[in-house]
Amino acid sequence: MDNSMNIDWGNLPFGYHKTDYNVRCYYRNGSWGELEITSSESINIHMAATALHYGQEAFEGLKAYRGKDGKVRLFRWEENAKRMAKSAEGIMMAKVPEKLFKEAIFKAIELNAKFIPPYGTGATLYLRPLLFGSGPQVGVKPADEYMFMVFVTPVGPYFKEGFKPVPIEVVRDYDRAAPLGTGNIKVGGNYAASMRPANRAHKDGFASVLFLDALEKKYIDEAGPANFFGIKDGRYITPQSSSILPSITNMSLEKIAEDIGLKVERRSVPIEELATFEEAGACGTAAIISPIGKVYDRVKDVTYEYGDIAGPYSTKLYITLRAIQEGEIEDKHGWTTIVEGL
Ligand code: PLP
Ligand code: COI
Repeated sequence: MDNSMNIDWGNLPFGYHKTDYNVRCYYRNGSWGELEITSSESINIHMAATALHYGQEAFEGLKAYRGKDGKVRLFRWEENAKRMAKSAEGIMMAKVPEKLFKEAIFKAIELNAKFIPPYGTGATLYLRPLLFGSGPQVGVKPADEYMFMVFVTPVGPYFKEGFKPVPIEVVRDYDRAAPLGTGNIKVGGNYAASMRPANRAHKDGFASVLFLDALEKKYIDEAGPANFFGIKDGRYITPQSSSILPSITNMSLEKIAEDIGLKVERRSVPIEELATFEEAGACGTAAIISPIGKVYDRVKDVTYEYGDIAGPYSTKLYITLRAIQEGEIEDKHGWTTIVEGL
């Protein structure tokens, strides 16, 4: 460990922190080139790049975890590679082959190994793969050239509260994504659309928002940058919707929920059902599990409350997921990959 870095690992925010290197690769003339290593934090791209004008851009988010045994693990990185390929397909970008995705994320971790937070600090190394149309177009059509890159940054919890219940608010006057739009892929436009309601929620003291289905405003969609789940009567219930990003964390929690004896239901969840949950939470790579303490519906002036301390099932799910990611318990589903030699 390089002590000259002076990073206060235990108090890191979820934000950008400069590291030493990032890796890049260019798609030109119909094929991907060699992976390049750079220490530059800037990108030089054409002013008519489709990413800048037409939002031809997708990203991923995954973490490298330093375990109690000192080993560094990645969690289900293949799923991130698959999802990035789906995102590419969805907005007509060149796909990043799994082999290139793997090489890039492993290289980015290895080159920045000193930024992997120590075990027990609650911090992790966040990896941000990014793919975008870098070639020029003025008409609305896909670029001929693409850039794929991965940078890393050490991060603390996404919600400053950590594993403590947060208040969130229902949004009825904005949509993040349309039913047949791009909500199910990880493209920048979805996040742009979420900023106004998220900003208002923060100003009003809420940690995040709860979007409803765009068509009928009857069903729960996403919890800001995370999936929603509720627990009642021994069941783990999570919304099914065409505009939700398939969360790798949620997919994993569904399995863990079954392992700890919960029945899993993935279905439409009417907003009124909030009144019946014993526990509620938001889940994602950045958020891990963020227990929800209360949900406020400003239009109906209704508050659904779940208490100031995390419920027993949310706690068990959280502890189990982290223990797998940090190599403390058996990884019986084969979800983790050790990054050797760090
Ligand atoms: N939903 C949205 C909108 C997200 O941005 C994320 C984060 O990637 C998630 C859900 C959670 O997905 P994952 O668990 O794969 O990180
Ligand atoms: C993640 O959970 O990795 C996310 O991408 C959420 C957010 C930072 C966009």
